[in-house]
Amino acid sequence: HTARFTLDPAFTIAEVNPRLFGSFVEHLGRCVYTGIFEPDHPTADDKGLRQDVLDLVRELGVTAIRYPGGNFVSGYKWEDSVGPAAERPRRLDLAWHSTESNRFGLSEYIDFLRKVGPQAEPMMAVNLGTRGVAEALELQEYANHPEGTTLSDKRVSHGDKDPFGIKLWCLGNEMDGPWQTGHKTAEEYGRVAAETARAMRQIDPKVELVACGSSSQSMPTFAEWEATVLKETYDLVDYVSLHAYYWPENGDIDSFLASAVDMESFIENVVATADHVGARLKSKKKINLSFDEWNVWYLPEWEEHAQSVTDWPEAPRLLEDNYSVMDAVVFGSLLIALLRHADRVTVACLAQLVNVIAPIMTEPGGPAWRQTTFFPFAQASRYGRGQVLDVRVDSPTYETKKYGEADLLHATAVRADDGTVTVFAVNRGRTEALPLEVALNGLDLTDVVEHSVLADADPDARNTLDDPERVTPHRAEGTALTDGRLTAVLEPMSWNVIRLA
Ligand code: AHR
Repeated sequence: HTARFTLDPAFTIAEVNPRLFGSFVEHLGRCVYTGIFEPDHPTADDKGLRQDVLDLVRELGVTAIRYPGGNFVSGYKWEDSVGPAAERPRRLDLAWHSTESNRFGLSEYIDFLRKVGPQAEPMMAVNLGTRGVAEALELQEYANHPEGTTLSDKRVSHGDKDPFGIKLWCLGNEMDGPWQTGHKTAEEYGRVAAETARAMRQIDPKVELVACGSSSQSMPTFAEWEATVLKETYDLVDYVSLHAYYWPENGDIDSFLASAVDMESFIENVVATADHVGARLKSKKKINLSFDEWNVWYLPEWEEHAQSVTDWPEAPRLLEDNYSVMDAVVFGSLLIALLRHADRVTVACLAQLVNVIAPIMTEPGGPAWRQTTFFPFAQASRYGRGQVLDVRVDSPTYETKKYGEADLLHATAVRADDGTVTVFAVNRGRTEALPLEVALNGLDLTDVVEHSVLADADPDARNTLDDPERVTPHRAEGTALTDGRLTAVLEPMSWNVIRLA
């Protein structure tokens, strides 16, 4: 049975916001220390940044990079992270039961972004767990005010003459989660988020602000949380956040492969909730979505490990998931879900960037390499720029425990400014290849430039320190474009990028 859809430039979803390809650097495990920052590493520059990692970050094509957390931000004292590194305090990091040396801080983060390149943009979170309005304002003034006040002059005296120009700010992190230091009810958080937003806009009316939504769609407070928070903040914020992580629960691979069904419904439910609040307020404004944490994460393994931690190590190995081909296929499908909702999801951050549930891994003093998930992200960021076309698939289905009947094909397509089109497609089937036919209406396309596939006879194959290039994408044979009809065969459990010109 063949999967089919039609592409027509008359039917589009939206222009992809480059911020859809954001990522996340948290002070967690080895994301910062021995990840992006390792002064003793042979490739380190004069600021301690690993050049080998910087190269891979550029190749990955990330845009907005969220910082400094995550759960970490709910205990974050920004003042600890500025000024001469040798004088910075060492602190307990309650979120990850670690010791934070603060050797890497705000200035180093901005330096890192500048070295990644012009596509990289700061996305800074303020602490609304143990702190509040005043500290958020102080951080904003230190970071963004040109000069002539105590805090801005302090930044200049610390060697950062140019303001950091941080436009995009998260108002706390996962404040709905009982695990969050300073966790709040929706009413409590809604009020503090509103007042922080109002005050930050007094410094700069143009800041872009993200209110915390739910930590996952399965939170007991989901939707009511968004409605309550947005009722308080609707006119003051630009985005509401979503976080979601997927893993094969109880070994249920079929449902895992359909994880994007949950992600898409999560997005649609948040859009509905936000628009409901807007309708009640008789507002013309639309709140957009910042999907600022998403990934495959084998969460139960971390939860088990967390219980046994009793000491306070510095930069321990935490959440170092090693991703298989199957994980990368699910990951690719999550990227497709984001693209399919590019009209409302205008910021998204892959959590995280290096070592911690990350596409890039490093060994202290040793090499850096690409996980399987690196490839779908890099390809989507590179070719997923332009107008998302409205893709409605007619696909054979399969049965899943969690989501009922699910399409075997998950797909989207993006048309670049030069008229070329890239189809991103996942075959969720575990054993059968999936024939695909795409009708191309009103598109002046004649050639298949490339059909790249990530799949393997062993879906459990991974890249490791010892075998860092075990998994890479390969070219598919037989993909053809004739008389406005694209035909291809999608390998079992595969991520596909088909470029047409
Ligand atoms: O990305 C790992 C953690 O997941 C983040 O710190 C937190 O926000 C989420 O629960």
